[in-house]
Amino acid sequence: MSKRFEGTVALITGAASGIGAASARRLGAEGARLALLDLDEAGGSALAKELDPSGERARFWRVDVGQREEVGAATDAAAAAFGRLDVVFNNAGIGAYGEVPDLDPDTWRRILSVDLDSVYYGCRAAVPHLRAAGGGAIINTASISGLHGDYGLAAYNAAKGGVVNLTRTLALDHARDGIRTNAVCPGPIETALTRPLLEIPSLVEEFERNIPMGRLGRADEVAGVVAFLASEDASYVNGACIVVDGGVTCWTGQNNFSRALRAMPGEGGE
Ligand SMILES: NC(=O)c1ccc[n+]([C@@H]2O[C@H](COP(=O)([O-])OP(=O)(O)OC[C@H]3O[C@@H](n4cnc5c(N)ncnc54)[C@H](O)[C@@H]3O)[C@@H](O)[C@H]2O)c1
Repeated sequence: MSKRFEGTVALITGAASGIGAASARRLGAEGARLALLDLDEAGGSALAKELDPSGERARFWRVDVGQREEVGAATDAAAAAFGRLDVVFNNAGIGAYGEVPDLDPDTWRRILSVDLDSVYYGCRAAVPHLRAAGGGAIINTASISGLHGDYGLAAYNAAKGGVVNLTRTLALDHARDGIRTNAVCPGPIETALTRPLLEIPSLVEEFERNIPMGRLGRADEVAGVVAFLASEDASYVNGACIVVDGGVTCWTGQNNFSRALRAMPGEGGE
């Protein structure tokens, strides 16, 4: 594997699991030293130890990304421990279902806090360090749910839509600091977040029907795009929101005419 990140330091939130862990593995394999932040102390410490038992190339900080002081302190500590910060991946996130009339205000606040406030806190803490390093890359995990609406996902749609547009503002405001800011917008990816859904047979059927590629994505398939956005290969990519969704957002949501036509008598159907 190439060493695009040799000499650089990457900070990743939500690093203990799923897309964050896959990205830590990928950036680490390409030479980055890693600051891993997560609420999950056991998972985060285990990953840091697995990636580098000496603690020189990977270290874990327990942080609730919804708490501004915790994010600020860990970001400063990581920059001090490694001597610089070059890449910041604001990725931690949670989901919650509910239509607006039934969504309780505490759930709404928690989702907005963990999924959107966290990105503001992360960037607020990181930009001075990236500027000090002469520039760098911010990648935010939004979602295809930040680009379109979903049935029953009001708070998540609002938060991820906010991440998409905050990404664009950051891209404008800090381009001349040498900081590129982009978002990755995953579609359905098999991680701890979505695994419970895969136990509901009707939802598995819907995934198979509605995802053009016919399967959920893997966390490492998102990590590859994160690594691209973090790297010099993306040196002129700024303010982009890149979908990694197997084609889900290509679709208007209209009926599947091909399937209907195939099912007609004399058209290869019955
Ligand atoms: N899996 C998908 O289908 C999918 C699709 C689109 C977007 N996303 C987004 O990708 C990101 C990563 O999700 P994932 O699928 O890898 O899920 P995951 O549950 O596997 O990983 C999320 C990680 O974030 C951590 N976390 C949760 N709340 C936190 C907090 N308050 N402070 C610090 N860490 C916290 C968890 O401990 C966990 O390690 C999220 O922002 C999610 O919204 C996921």
